[in-house]
Amino acid sequence: DSLHIFAPATVANVAAGFDILGFALNAPGDEITIRKTDTPGITIHNKTEFASMPLAPEKNTAGVALQAYLQHLGSEHGFEITFLKKIKPGSGIGSSAASSAAAVFGANELLGRPLERKDLVQFAMQGEKLASGSAHADNVAPALMGGFVLVRSYNPLDLVTIPVPENLYASVIHPQIELKTEDSRRVLRKQILLKDAVVQWGNTAGLIAGLFKGDYELIGRSLQDVIIEPIRSLLIPGFESIKTAALQAGALGCSISGSGPSIFTLSTSEATAQTVAKAMQQMCSQQGIESEIHVSPI
Ligand code: HSE
Repeated sequence: DSLHIFAPATVANVAAGFDILGFALNAPGDEITIRKTDTPGITIHNKTEFASMPLAPEKNTAGVALQAYLQHLGSEHGFEITFLKKIKPGSGIGSSAASSAAAVFGANELLGRPLERKDLVQFAMQGEKLASGSAHADNVAPALMGGFVLVRSYNPLDLVTIPVPENLYASVIHPQIELKTEDSRRVLRKQILLKDAVVQWGNTAGLIAGLFKGDYELIGRSLQDVIIEPIRSLLIPGFESIKTAALQAGALGCSISGSGPSIFTLSTSEATAQTVAKAMQQMCSQQGIESEIHVSPI
């Protein structure tokens, strides 16, 4: 009655798709052990050395997600969860999302899979709401469903899996500074100009078309965000020079991963993705900032 679960890091927004696009990485990912107990209630333990977390279920992102799931089912079962997080909180690659996704996925398996993966997203989103004040799905949906996911609509929730061409690799650099999603959402403007919206939805549609057609150049020129990136990049030291280094090293495109400070790029081969990651890391260290890099097929 116990399971060990891996939940992947995710890249949300993917340049122009603020709150509506995301994809899963192979690594890093959070690990949890989840056990079904005979008595009701959720107990949380944390074995992660680098991150503390509230252990009271109503204050823990995964606890809140699991509570929402159990409430929906009217289940009286209890669960004990032990976290071994590998994704640093505040990194911009879906740390809170991975924990919430792992908890609801694990409970759903232990209860005999009453719901499909796609139907678990709405509960994992409650964890995001607690973590950042906003119930966005662009990290939890790919964490649960894998691959590349479009949130076509929030109300009602409409999730669409997007195919990914064979040779697409992500490089992610995580400058070792912490940026809370809540803070990097607060800096955003509530209103945008129509002319910017036109550019943005052109790029969103272009990216989706590029993924369907396997047109790497179209994917590359669609990786542009004229609304969110100009504001959030100010919170990431050296962003412009890191982006320039990535493009010079052969990346198709480059933008902020989720709410930052991580930066992601896409490339058409693993070798290029490695070269790009190293070029970004070198540029980051020139700013005096340590970083971690990850390369993963999508
Ligand atoms: N879409 C969310 C944001 C992702 O950009 O705030 C947070 O990881």
